[in-house]
Amino acid sequence: MPKVFITRQIPEIGIKLLKDKGYDVSVGPEGKISKQELLDGVKGVDAILSVLTEKIDGSVMDAAGQQLKIVANYAVGYNNLDLEAAKERKVVMTNTPGVLTDTVADHTVTLLLSIARRVVEADKYTRAGQYQIWGPKLFLGGDLVDKVLGIVGLGRIGFAVAERMKKGFNMKVIYYDIKRNQALEEKHGLEYRELDQLLSEADFISLHTALTDETRHLINAERLKLIKLTSYLINTSRGPIIDEKALVEVLKDKKIAGAALDVFEKEPELMPGLAKLDNVIITPHIASATKGTRNKMAQIAANNVIAALEGETPPNLIK
Ligand code: GLV
Ligand code: GLV
Repeated sequence: MPKVFITRQIPEIGIKLLKDKGYDVSVGPEGKISKQELLDGVKGVDAILSVLTEKIDGSVMDAAGQQLKIVANYAVGYNNLDLEAAKERKVVMTNTPGVLTDTVADHTVTLLLSIARRVVEADKYTRAGQYQIWGPKLFLGGDLVDKVLGIVGLGRIGFAVAERMKKGFNMKVIYYDIKRNQALEEKHGLEYRELDQLLSEADFISLHTALTDETRHLINAERLKLIKLTSYLINTSRGPIIDEKALVEVLKDKKIAGAALDVFEKEPELMPGLAKLDNVIITPHIASATKGTRNKMAQIAANNVIAALEGETPPNLIK
């Protein structure tokens, strides 16, 4: 009977799919799993279903053993997986693209509107009993009308955010991507910009690139300087894409209007000073966190495991 180790608790629907196949399934803790618990847990398994908090490298695959066939990541991003080490060991790796696109785009828009309209700051003020009188200048926010949205990374999620803001809010959308897509530009009225140009032009900048060696600190101290005083930065991709220490300085000095972050450079830790700032909104990596989407992610990850264990090519193979 094939053995499967799921590194953390995931929605039951995915666990059930695997159990219904008759697999011997064990599941890690609800919270943090230590490296030792991970190495013990994977011992002798044919499949690992990993959560993005676990780094799955050669040491973990070796601890599993030579029978290991697949690591199915419960996430669209897979910077926690060592693809080279997997290739050397003939282990396949998969992710969960597609199902979370709309959900992540929705959270991105939520953050964009919330930072522009100072929703969190205003809520704190009202709760604290500070609302004494209606004011013509009380909590003035940023405008969306006639403003420009800059998308960095026009993948599925970046495009879904562009569509929402263009169709729903009539914003002009510019984008930067390593691959320019002229067909998509023409079809949807998007305009291409080089990254530095986009940063200096956009009123809202939203990051949607994968985390790789090339995108680590893509938004560094130099590039943060290009952003306008009145502009906002939103990140629902991966924390290390921004130099968070430099961002804290820029926000402290009010060199940009604000930032809304769902991901952090040293997650779950926050850069010192970040949480004290009023011109930032922070959420705990929940952009894909709806009941429906997290269930679908569990099903997709489980189905990838099942395909690999049945000798088929899993649907969401990472190449
Ligand atoms: C979440 O961050 C994911 O990559 O799915
Ligand atoms: C990211 O992988 C995306 O789907 O945009």
